[in-house]
Amino acid sequence: MNVEIYADYTALSERAAEILAELVQQKPNAVLGLPTGSTPEGFYAAVVRMGLSLSQVRSFNLDEYVGLPRTHDQSYYTFMDQHFYQHVDIPLENRYILDGTRPDPEEECRRYEEAIAAAGGMDLVILGIGLNGHIGFNEPGAAWDARTRKVALAERTRQANARHFERPELVPEHALTMGIGTILEAKRVLVLASGEAKAAIVREMVKGVPGVGVPATALQRHPQVTVLLDKSAAALLSR
Ligand code: F6R
Repeated sequence: MNVEIYADYTALSERAAEILAELVQQKPNAVLGLPTGSTPEGFYAAVVRMGLSLSQVRSFNLDEYVGLPRTHDQSYYTFMDQHFYQHVDIPLENRYILDGTRPDPEEECRRYEEAIAAAGGMDLVILGIGLNGHIGFNEPGAAWDARTRKVALAERTRQANARHFERPELVPEHALTMGIGTILEAKRVLVLASGEAKAAIVREMVKGVPGVGVPATALQRHPQVTVLLDKSAAALLSR
């Protein structure tokens, strides 16, 4: 893993945007895997500020809550629309987001995998990391060859995400997520982490013994991983 440490959140977000810009310059029709959550907000804002053209890009979101309609203010569809898609020129038909309201989630996940394969696989997948080491919504215990599927959210994840909902019990119990196997097939992986709350899990991801108990340690197997950290998230790395 190649770890880069930046002075603050803005600097790491700008570096992530720069990495995307370099990729799109080399490959205008790049295929991306994209995260939601608080961490990538600065990255999306930086890409928008750059005015980067993404007119040939195809993008696949990592995950979506089960049961929230796309119009729900906490759906990842709404997140992507507000933070990114409204502001960039990725054609509508090139934006893929799992639909958590489909009556047959298995079929939805299979079609998603087929669409990623038909696009030629992902060139770059960008990830945040959960406090318990989840990537996408692959919670501790998830198999490393898992594909896109319906999963139960860990209690810790529901608690961490409760801040976005009116009441904690409104956080969905399930999600659809790309699998660790799907993520590991991307040509390159970029992980973003910021803030001291992430310092311990960042150390696990980078230096811990790989195992299914900490999904992000699967990334140690991937040959092209870049981890972008601010100083607080990197605080425990030297110990
Ligand atoms: C979101 C996702 C999650 C988040 C993680 C960190 O699409 O896949 O793995 O990246 O929960 O979330 P934040 O950035 O809110 O701390």
